[in-house]
Amino acid sequence: MKKAKNQPNNPFILAGYHSAKYFCDREKETQRILDAIYNHRNLVLLSLRRMGKTDLIEHVFNSPKAKSEYNCFYVDAYPTSNLSEFVKLLSKAIIGKLDSKIENIVKKATALFKSIHPIVSFNEITGNPEIEIALRNENHPENSLDELFSYLQQKETPVVIAIDEFQQIAQYPEKNTEALLRTHIQHMTNVVFIFSGSQRHLLMNMFTAYNRPFYQSAELLFLQAIPLQSYAPFVKKKMKEGNKEILPETIEYLYTELAGHTWYMQYTLNKLYTSSATVITLLELKRQLDEIVKESEALYFDYRNLLTATQWVLLQSIAKERELKEPTAQSFTQKYTLVPGSIQRTLKALKEKEMIYEENGIYSVYNQFLAYWLREKF
Ligand SMILES: Nc1ncnc2c1ncn2[C@@H]1O[C@H](COP(=O)(O)OP(=O)(O)O)[C@@H](O)[C@H]1O
Ligand SMILES: [Mg+2]
Repeated sequence: MKKAKNQPNNPFILAGYHSAKYFCDREKETQRILDAIYNHRNLVLLSLRRMGKTDLIEHVFNSPKAKSEYNCFYVDAYPTSNLSEFVKLLSKAIIGKLDSKIENIVKKATALFKSIHPIVSFNEITGNPEIEIALRNENHPENSLDELFSYLQQKETPVVIAIDEFQQIAQYPEKNTEALLRTHIQHMTNVVFIFSGSQRHLLMNMFTAYNRPFYQSAELLFLQAIPLQSYAPFVKKKMKEGNKEILPETIEYLYTELAGHTWYMQYTLNKLYTSSATVITLLELKRQLDEIVKESEALYFDYRNLLTATQWVLLQSIAKERELKEPTAQSFTQKYTLVPGSIQRTLKALKEKEMIYEENGIYSVYNQFLAYWLREKF
């Protein structure tokens, strides 16, 4: 069968957003974000890592409504470590969209901004021209931020800026970054913000602690796993398009084992798609999962060396329980011969290491493949 143009070889995409065709569900969330934008409410998008925040933002930006009515910009704050780097990234995102031709970008940006200079460089690997940003005064990136925001504020089309891994700005050496951004954001009637992040604790704190500049300045959206009712038909359809059949009980088993966590699901499905079996049975799925965890086994044993014996046993127990509701209940501690007195402290340590996460008082293992491996192996 001939492949259509721009069609990926594997419909289960692992890196980055492709298009709506390969994006499963998130219809309600997409609508909620579009509503927030339309009504000029800033929004905080929170979830565990790899659940689909970045993809969801891209999906929203790629929607017909956003494409026709808004100017959308995306910045990932994760690699930035100070305000100047952040301002450069934001400049690059904005300036990069001024024109489709690089020489016109430079001309336009030079005319628009006094303190931000685009420089054309050539990518060492591809040889393609790229825009780099230099600030006139590296020590005062806030001046360039002023310029950027004034430019956005006067644009005819409303602007949406998504700042991914936003909690990163709280780590900058410039301690006033939050207050500085907040002041700008407060006054911008033409710009709506989406703040997104995986470090729930840090991010929640920024927006819900009354002594922080962003206190109550945005609505919160917690992204959960895609429901099985939506994932199942998506998987079935994509497999069918590749002349493969997957049985409902196989999808269900996969979803339960991985708690529906998006990246783990996509990864396993990506591999199943290329397996030689045309009918993907439960047996085939188990073989695939075993193969996947086998690849990382050395890493998992390293984890064991990094944890104390108590932490390791508790981690195993949580993996086996899948969802641990009452960590100090006798039924639990006796079952796994745990010392009740040390449970809370051990949970805290595992949480800090991001080996487990807590949601509404329920504990689960963070890495779904590790959890599977722990259940199978011990
Ligand atoms: N709705 C979706 N349908 C299909 N794949 C998705 C969907 N959302 C996310 N993914 C995939 O899951 C993985 C994690 O998504 P990502 O957006 O990077 O998560 P996060 O930003 O929350 O860490 C990526 O490989 C992405 O392609
Ligand atoms: Mg992300």
